[in-house]
Amino acid sequence: MENLDDLQKEILGKINSADNLKELDDVRVNIMGKKGRLTEMMKGLGALPLEEKIALGKSLNVVKNEIEKAIEKQKQVLEEKALNEKLSGETVDVTLPVRPEVQGRIHPVSKIYEEVAAIFGQMGFEVAEGPDIEDQFHNFNALNMPANHPARQMQDTFYLNNDPSKPFDMDTAYVIRTQTSGIQIRTMEKQQPPIRIIAPGRTYRSDYDATHTPMFHQVEGLVIDKNITMAHLKGCLYDFVKAFFEIDDLPVRYRPSYFPFTEPSAEMDIGCLKTKTELKVGAGTDWLEILGCGMVHPNVLRAGGINPDEYQGFAFGLGIDRLAMLKYGIPDLRTFFESDVRWLKHYGFTPLDISSMTGGLSNNGGLAR
Ligand code: DAH
Repeated sequence: MENLDDLQKEILGKINSADNLKELDDVRVNIMGKKGRLTEMMKGLGALPLEEKIALGKSLNVVKNEIEKAIEKQKQVLEEKALNEKLSGETVDVTLPVRPEVQGRIHPVSKIYEEVAAIFGQMGFEVAEGPDIEDQFHNFNALNMPANHPARQMQDTFYLNNDPSKPFDMDTAYVIRTQTSGIQIRTMEKQQPPIRIIAPGRTYRSDYDATHTPMFHQVEGLVIDKNITMAHLKGCLYDFVKAFFEIDDLPVRYRPSYFPFTEPSAEMDIGCLKTKTELKVGAGTDWLEILGCGMVHPNVLRAGGINPDEYQGFAFGLGIDRLAMLKYGIPDLRTFFESDVRWLKHYGFTPLDISSMTGGLSNNGGLAR
């Protein structure tokens, strides 16, 4: 039998001089593991006469407790040491200047979102949000597009089975939203007029070529209040496009159109000049469609819980990717989503170019890029 005092001294010494957690654990296993020295001594107790067994058992327990305490204490010391070493290895000097070659870029789509929010923000609009995975009520039905409505086919919809334990059911399936218009309904459900929101978001349709990608970006707009007329719509959107394209005398026109959720509906065109090689926004002989809009259909107000006899409103929908292509002269939409660093470096924006109406919207002279 080993001398217990010597054993305790020896082990405590080893524990306190352990330099890392692995070493400490080796000491623990060596003394208290399955075949550890203390464990073996405990096993040996069974063969002793009762009195000796009790006396030695007590002493062994005292030693064991001491050792356990010492291990726990040293463990904390070593853990703290390991953490401090890790932290000091990961120190970042935040006072270092940014190296331009590693500085990230703001994607043109994000930049356009910021610009649109800056313009509408100054007109008193708030930013609203809705889910990418949407139910058919919000994406279609409440927007005056019931199940058999032909416009539902117009928007090649991605359906999702909302209950994998059952076979796919077209009636209850969710969709990944085909438009941000559902956020109109979600906003009305939460809030009574006056409402003045824009809602940026990703939208999805089964489509893919140089000007269509299965995921794209929209901004929805909604204004509801008493005595809102088409004149408000026209004035608001005219101010928007002038500010957005940074052209004061930008020609615009509204053409009658059809959307199920607005009546009357219109599309807004801006003046431009198309040559063989260039498309120049501003005065010219051509027109370019840039958004859809209209007076909110009474059925939509009703679906959102708002009384159409008391309130009216207008709505609009913008395709953000197209705006980015137009404003920043980017020819192929598909390149937006390729994450090519060279592309981002060329078309992206530095994070410090913050869009504001007073400080400058695009910070680069608008179309002069
Ligand atoms: N949701 C339409 C689309 O995706 C765009 C749109 C048109 C939205 C007219 C509107 C609107 O709010 O009034 O094609």
